[in-house]
Amino acid sequence: MKAAYLEGNNQPYIVKEVSTPVPTGQEVLIKLEFSSFNQRDIRVQKGIYAVAPLPEGGLAIGSDGYGKVVKVAENADPMWMGREVVINPGRNWGDNPDAFGPDFKIMGCPDQGTFAEYIAVDQKYIRPKPLYLTDEEAAALPLAGLTTYRAVFTKGRVKAGEKVLITGIGAGTALLALQYALAAGAEVYVTSGTERKLERAIEMGAKAGFNYKAEDWAAQANALTNGFDVVLDSASGKGFAKLIEVLKPGGRLVFWGGTDGPIESIVPAHIYWKNLSILGTTLGSNQEFADMLSYSEKHNIKPVIDKVFPSLAHAQEAAEYLASGAQFGKIVMANKV
Ligand SMILES: NC(=O)c1ccc[n+]([C@@H]2O[C@H](COP(=O)([O-])OP(=O)(O)OC[C@H]3O[C@@H](n4cnc5c(N)ncnc54)[C@H](OP(=O)(O)O)[C@@H]3O)[C@@H](O)[C@H]2O)c1
Repeated sequence: MKAAYLEGNNQPYIVKEVSTPVPTGQEVLIKLEFSSFNQRDIRVQKGIYAVAPLPEGGLAIGSDGYGKVVKVAENADPMWMGREVVINPGRNWGDNPDAFGPDFKIMGCPDQGTFAEYIAVDQKYIRPKPLYLTDEEAAALPLAGLTTYRAVFTKGRVKAGEKVLITGIGAGTALLALQYALAAGAEVYVTSGTERKLERAIEMGAKAGFNYKAEDWAAQANALTNGFDVVLDSASGKGFAKLIEVLKPGGRLVFWGGTDGPIESIVPAHIYWKNLSILGTTLGSNQEFADMLSYSEKHNIKPVIDKVFPSLAHAQEAAEYLASGAQFGKIVMANKV
């Protein structure tokens, strides 16, 4: 098969012939139609994804995909044959719903991912493609949907009427968080470094937006809202301290990323004196993946897609576009040659 392949850190994606995986045990072989990019792919390519570095010799990475089952191994259920499926990017979550166990992995490094024509996946990690989604949306939903479903509901416990702030709304994850929080009945506010993205989030139902590049955005937010019950963040970095300023006493700050780098300059008393809860989160369990899919279908939640690249040969272009930060939503690639 052909794959969009990374031969080493800081190398561009190249289309390369690699061996087609052979499904064994309870695995099925999926012919991938579309895949989508995540920040993780940038970090793996740059060699800064410490928990799962690129293996010697390189790999076809990619953690999101949609396709059709074309082969079923000896112990997999034959009913999967021919079915269109989405894939849970998480593996081996373990028994503890609060945190993953020692064997947890994310599809697409260190094992083969979705930037290829085929992938073999254990049947327990596939689900029928939700019919209300387009093929491109089905490839864009899994990783961002699972992460933000857990952030909004399991960790954030967002309730109707609460005031919620979502940072960096251009992010694929942030836009799904916006939709889940709105579906929960929250009053949602957003931040972005781009005015047009703030306007687009307001068109989607956000109440107002703040440009995080403005020195006084936190004061503006407090003046307008009197503070937030919940803040959902994926940027961390220097701006994290401001998120503590805009939380109400007793508020929850849920975060799942470090796009803007390490957290700096937090005054401890600003957290404990306000009785804040600061909650880290990640992808979720297989049960949360199933719950996310049914909640998304019930509330007609569709990932916002910024751009679809037409073939595996465009992987490098797609990765550079993601790294530019110009996108509003997910970047999808057709898995054609
Ligand atoms: N823990 C997990 O399991 C998990 C799962 C998924 C993602 N993540 C992490 O979550 C983060 C987002 O991932 P993604 O794939 O959704 O990213 P993405 O689609 O590439 O989004 C990047 C966005 O980050 C925002 N941003 C950049 N600098 C910012 C700042 N200083 N303050 C606020 N926002 C800023 C920008 O928003 P604007 O353009 O609106 O300014 C930009 O569009 C990444 O760090 C990723 O590694 C973690």
